[in-house]
Amino acid sequence: MTDAVRVEELVVTYGPVAAVDRVSFQVREAEHLTLLGPSGCGKTTTLRAVAGLERPSGGRIAIGGASVFDGARRIDVPPEARGLSMVFQSYAIWPHMSVAENVAFPFRARGVANSVARPAVARALALVDLAAYADRSATMLSGGQQQRVALARAIAFGTRLVLFDEPLSNLDAQLRLQMREELADLRRRLGFAAIYVTHDQDEAFSLSDRIVLMRGGRIEQQGTPSDLHAAPRTRFAAAFLGVRNIIDADIAHGHATLANGLLLPVRDDGPPGPAAIAFRPGAVVLGRGTPATIERVLFAGDQLQLLLRAGPVDVIAYARPQSGLEEGTTIMWHVAAGDCRVLRE
Ligand SMILES: Nc1ncnc2c1ncn2[C@@H]1O[C@H](COP(=O)(O)OP(=O)(O)OP(=O)(O)O)[C@@H](O)[C@H]1O
Ligand SMILES: [Mg+2]
Repeated sequence: MTDAVRVEELVVTYGPVAAVDRVSFQVREAEHLTLLGPSGCGKTTTLRAVAGLERPSGGRIAIGGASVFDGARRIDVPPEARGLSMVFQSYAIWPHMSVAENVAFPFRARGVANSVARPAVARALALVDLAAYADRSATMLSGGQQQRVALARAIAFGTRLVLFDEPLSNLDAQLRLQMREELADLRRRLGFAAIYVTHDQDEAFSLSDRIVLMRGGRIEQQGTPSDLHAAPRTRFAAAFLGVRNIIDADIAHGHATLANGLLLPVRDDGPPGPAAIAFRPGAVVLGRGTPATIERVLFAGDQLQLLLRAGPVDVIAYARPQSGLEEGTTIMWHVAAGDCRVLRE
């Protein structure tokens, strides 16, 4: 099967700086791939290069099996001929047009007959639940509705590939969650492939089939959300993916020795020496193991978040509300070997 997108050894430079440095990934048909990473890591630049809005200085990009950029072969297909559409963070809605005219714009720009465009626009507006707003001025819409118009415009043309650059970041928290679900639902129903840029790990985890984690213009790690959740490979990946406990340790013979002298069992085949261990607060088992002092108790909805201190080592743990979890008391804790990852740089 041909990939929806294949990016190989992509390099994009701004002056002396490589904003994207030999990045390679594939997006399969109907797959949602997310480019995740902190500000400035090269997500937007990668996306714009796929769209043809940024000229790479090296590498290859193919869309649907057809080469659209190849530095060595001097192939550079213009954006409008790449057969994709894009949804931006700022909705890029034209204020002087109605909702329907906005969605019809890509058809007009390509000289598509009205008889073809009109039903496609109506269908797209119905899909994003805006059929009743077709004739309304695009400026008289809420942020969420404007983002829906942008989405309708992207899907109306029936493209097989849609690129998203932080499309939900201008929305308030509740609307963002709602749009997230609608977007996932829409993509499943229409079956287009997506490259989706975000710096929000929750968004990446909930929407993606696969995640490419970027750092400083390079790929740090890629995999399914559950791969990345269960097995971040580096300290950076663990921290960015929200693993709360990352602790310096000396690794030898299936054990990690922490700064307080505590030994924790780890499952690890790597070389002995200094590294770090990582485990999630949910993996901390309370009631047996070694002692720590409960420094801080935070109410976190259904559970309590505890800050445990054992000498120079701080550990965050979750616990169900129960008696005995008062600040200043001593508690026993441990982490199973299987829940403890060893991180080497
Ligand atoms: N037009 C430009 N000229 C020069 N440098 C640029 C340009 N656009 C981006 N950069 C630089 O390239 C790097 C990658 O930028 P990019 O916009 O791809 O990051 P990003 O991952 O999308 O970040 P954010 O989450 O903040 O949007 C940054 O260091 C940025 O400063
Ligand atoms: Mg960006």
